[in-house]
Amino acid sequence: MCGIIGYVGPRQAGPLLLEGLRRLEYRGYDSAGIAVMNGGGVPSLVKSVGKLESLAACLNGSFPEGTVGIGHTRWATHGRPSDTNAHPHCDCDSDVVVIHNGIVENYLALRQRLRDEGHSFRSDTDTEVIPHLIESELAQGQSLVDAVRRTIAQIEGAHALLVMSACQPDTVVAARVGNAGGVVVGYGDGEMFLSSDLPALLPHTNRMVFLTNGDVAAVTRNGATYWAGNGGPEQRVPQSIPFDPMAAAKGGYKHFMLKEIMEQPEAVLDTIRGRIQFDPLGLQLEDMPPTDALKRIQRVVLVAMGTSLHAAMVGKHYIEQIAGLPAEVDNASEYRYRKPIIGPATLLISVAQSGETVDTLEAMAEAKKSGALEITVCNTPGSQATRVADGVVYTRCGLEIGVASTKTLLGSIVALYMLACYLGQERGKLDETQLAELLTPLAHMPQLIGSVVGREHEFESLAHAFFRHQDFLYLGRGIEYPIAMEGALKLKEVSYIHAEGYPAGEMKHGPIALIDQEMPVVTIVVRDDLRDKMISNLEQVKARDGIVIALATEGDEEIAKIADHVIYLPETTPLLMPLLTAIPLQLLAYHIAVYRGCDVDQPRHLAKTVTVE
Ligand code: G6P
Repeated sequence: MCGIIGYVGPRQAGPLLLEGLRRLEYRGYDSAGIAVMNGGGVPSLVKSVGKLESLAACLNGSFPEGTVGIGHTRWATHGRPSDTNAHPHCDCDSDVVVIHNGIVENYLALRQRLRDEGHSFRSDTDTEVIPHLIESELAQGQSLVDAVRRTIAQIEGAHALLVMSACQPDTVVAARVGNAGGVVVGYGDGEMFLSSDLPALLPHTNRMVFLTNGDVAAVTRNGATYWAGNGGPEQRVPQSIPFDPMAAAKGGYKHFMLKEIMEQPEAVLDTIRGRIQFDPLGLQLEDMPPTDALKRIQRVVLVAMGTSLHAAMVGKHYIEQIAGLPAEVDNASEYRYRKPIIGPATLLISVAQSGETVDTLEAMAEAKKSGALEITVCNTPGSQATRVADGVVYTRCGLEIGVASTKTLLGSIVALYMLACYLGQERGKLDETQLAELLTPLAHMPQLIGSVVGREHEFESLAHAFFRHQDFLYLGRGIEYPIAMEGALKLKEVSYIHAEGYPAGEMKHGPIALIDQEMPVVTIVVRDDLRDKMISNLEQVKARDGIVIALATEGDEEIAKIADHVIYLPETTPLLMPLLTAIPLQLLAYHIAVYRGCDVDQPRHLAKTVTVE
């Protein structure tokens, strides 16, 4: 989950590392640090607990001299946030420096062994064993690359790391083991960049190589050499990544979260663009498995985490109702450990913004072992999920920087809708009329989404009325239940208010006991088959003097007679309505958090990409 940056080239590394870390801070913000190799081949370290501003204040514009360096923003796992526990970490003589993302699962045993061998430790982290292990290997005459390769063979768990050493001061060695997050090597003109993530590299280059499991790379200013597993050196051809570097800027918005909410019409349009044709009617998805393989599918399992899980829960309805296949959805962290029954007739659909969430990747690995066909819905080209899957539906939402996902929820829902239509089309389940009935309203969604985000001030006023409340309940049914879950998740993530999302039918089995005049109940009561059931639930809340905020379909006057506040949304088909109901809930959470003075783009304890269990 930590942010990793590296530079090798002719320019001073320090300012570039700090700028890169600014673009990666959403990865973790417990501490930050840089190490720069000076002309004499000695690494200089500067690190500081807290957000990146603390490191910037420590540096105060005066960077260690040198043109090779590495930097890190930390999301603490082992050892509380402190200056000492901040990365980079060193060996005894401080001439091997390491930054690391992941957990060294056998660090206790390794630390004891190294102590017995005379190594002394400064921090409480698991990471610190790595520079000491490399130091031991170098002392036995290994080259730096071999020392790193022999070290990663000794550490258990999943890791992404960058290493510098006085013994080879013009090189940064990078390694990826398992699914602890990516390492991307960026090719500049006479200079090279490394990062855990694209935003830090895009201002400099869009030519990238993504390390895969078991890869080690030795990077100098002239390029990189790669080793895969136990094999010999090999060349890799950089691929061009289409992201716009300007996406990493706030573009006049106060927060990335708001910018990304406002970008949703475009994100959805870009996700649909070029994939739907009306004359002749059809849906073309690139990167799909062969139709024969799709015809063999008998059931679908969707896995994801966080906001992507809520998109997957909506997707389950699409797979069942549109593709006509039995579908189940599972939290990836549960799925991977529950010995699921998977067979070659199972299609596993994973959903991930980053394509690097460890639980989602491990769930994919579990299903792959049993021969499942895999399609991933993903926003990040080149990410691990896209490389492992047999097919990819890219969501084309552009970079998402806000830690709380927003536009990628809508992108994923749209991608799942199209995937369900595609499965229906290729499997011969949908005729042309049915396909037209499904695709025509989808084509209108960017405009409808635009009309809802355009009413931001209305949701801000609502937030002003409610930002002092301490508990919220969100209720929805059917395809809107995941959106109720997402509304509650957004609120707790960015405002730290306690919020719960429930299927409305479950309310009377417990949550109803909480209802009073202090806890607003946000209900999604749009015009669909379950509207009347939802109205009954609204009445049950009102009968207990609860406060009801309702999301309803334009023209449904009856709701205004029951609810205390109504947000009317334009009508579309019930299947596509989640693309509209999600938006007021995102903006309500955003504005409540802003009124409460919370750091919406970097909520406490969270990280954008979760690469540890
Ligand atoms: C973290 C982020 C969430 C995101 C989740 C899944 O918890 O804070 O916003 O939804 O990870 O991430 P993924 O990249 O797999 O969609």
